[in-house]
Amino acid sequence: MRVAVPAEVHAGERRVAATPETVAGLIERGFSVSVQSGAGVGASFPDAAYESAGATLVADARDLWSQADVLLKVRAPEAHPTLGCSEVSLLSPGATLISLLQPATHAELLEALRAQGVTALALDCVPRISRAQKMDVLSSMANIAGYCAITTATTEYGSFFGPQMTAAGKAPPAKVLVIGAGVAGLASIATAKALGAQVRAFDTRLATKEQVASLGATFLELEFEESGEGQGGYAKTMSDEFIAAEMALFAEQAKEVDIIVTTALIPGRAAPVLITQEMVEAMKPGSVIMELAAENGGNCALTRKDERGVHNGVRIVGYTDLTSRLATVSSRFFGNNLLHLLDDLGNAAEWNVDMEDEVIRGATVVHNEAITWPPPKVEHPAPAAPPPLPRDPTSEEHILEVKEPAKESHLGKALGTLLVAAVLVGVGTKAPTDFIQHFTVFVLACFIGWQVVWSVTAALHTPLMSVTNAISGIILVGGLIQAAGPDFTTMTLASTLGAVAILFASINVAGGFLVTQRMLAMFRK
Ligand code: NAI
Repeated sequence: MRVAVPAEVHAGERRVAATPETVAGLIERGFSVSVQSGAGVGASFPDAAYESAGATLVADARDLWSQADVLLKVRAPEAHPTLGCSEVSLLSPGATLISLLQPATHAELLEALRAQGVTALALDCVPRISRAQKMDVLSSMANIAGYCAITTATTEYGSFFGPQMTAAGKAPPAKVLVIGAGVAGLASIATAKALGAQVRAFDTRLATKEQVASLGATFLELEFEESGEGQGGYAKTMSDEFIAAEMALFAEQAKEVDIIVTTALIPGRAAPVLITQEMVEAMKPGSVIMELAAENGGNCALTRKDERGVHNGVRIVGYTDLTSRLATVSSRFFGNNLLHLLDDLGNAAEWNVDMEDEVIRGATVVHNEAITWPPPKVEHPAPAAPPPLPRDPTSEEHILEVKEPAKESHLGKALGTLLVAAVLVGVGTKAPTDFIQHFTVFVLACFIGWQVVWSVTAALHTPLMSVTNAISGIILVGGLIQAAGPDFTTMTLASTLGAVAILFASINVAGGFLVTQRMLAMFRK
């Protein structure tokens, strides 16, 4: 079974569907591979690297397309600029095309594919379910675009992202607002934070709040009760009132922030316009708007697709080829996603476009001379309940829960108490007075230690223990007194126990300080 990888013909596209690494993976999976000469040059993969990986180089595009059983491509087929025909017409009937296809806006392309008698899988239709994450080209590309949005903004913005204090002057950190905390938005937040910027973010889905916070950014909230959760974890269209409240928030933020990254999108719809001309005019000159939603119309009213414009000193960047600008890594991730999809298709040995498989069914848009898009809706069980949040220990619910197990272990507890009481009475009547004094101190120390440790939340146990271990110093003193024995020469049980105590207490003290040191190092930049 032959897999073919053509050179992309779309103007400015530098990515390639398979890297030499992908070729090696394809051969391992039983495919033979043809690559068009020069296909990987834009992504820095020379022909020689493909040959060494085991691919056959084919100079002529027509030959390459016609010999493909499976054709792997980045962009949807279009008119071939040098052959003067459509790329679809180059496919042999019965072949399978796998690429981005945007079927919602490419009805004519679907029809052409159907008429050509091929099977077509749209990578942009792979359902966003956990099992398909490794095949999800949209997520891997959005992640790269989110990163690239910030690196591009660094070249547009006339100052540092992180705070600087030098002999020549100081610069405050850049203030970044990210609108939409999906895959691209989260990647932008992480990158801007890594550069030292002050980052805030907004999303209609409250589920993203924790993710934003975990990246160290501030999640902006509205005093407006409306859930943005739609089907399958995607966003839903919000009410006009919500959008108005959100825009009022952005109007305030626009005066303050230096960089806005817009990524808000609801699948299958035009991007909502959230940044108006007035907001742009309220921004400081030199500020930057990085528009990631330009492909779908843009979140900013002044965005021009694929262009960089300046309005009132504010730079508005609407590039839609951010992933192509990082063609090497984009092609690597794209190729890896494809390998996982081919695994799902059974690879060369067991090739099967299984329409019962949710992922394959979702992605297949043309099969057996029929257009199979859109796929039937799949009902997913409601997402698993989030892990319980720490509850207020004084709440009634909590009290009820604590009481329940208490009832069950009633007998066990009574027996335990009786046993402890019996031991204490035995010790009290038989043991010498000296021992009773020490024993009382020991029991009280255990009790206080227990109360201190268990009243502190589990997440803080390590820092707590690392510092309180130093208290073991007192054991060292006690151990030294006991180890000395009655005359420094005789070994008694007490002096032996004292020596053992010195050993363990020393480990405890030194270990405590080492752990504290390591924790502090984590917070130092
Ligand atoms: P996503 O669907 O994972 O994230 C979109 C986020 O926007 C969601 O979290 C959603 O809740 C949020 N959102 C929807 N309506 C909103 C509103 N009114 N206010 C605030 N948030 C809202 O999408 P992903 O994969 O992160 O992509 C984001 C954008 O980046 C898309 O427009 C995509 O086309 C674009 N993109 C651009 C590239 C480029 O080169 N320019 C490359 C790859 C993706």
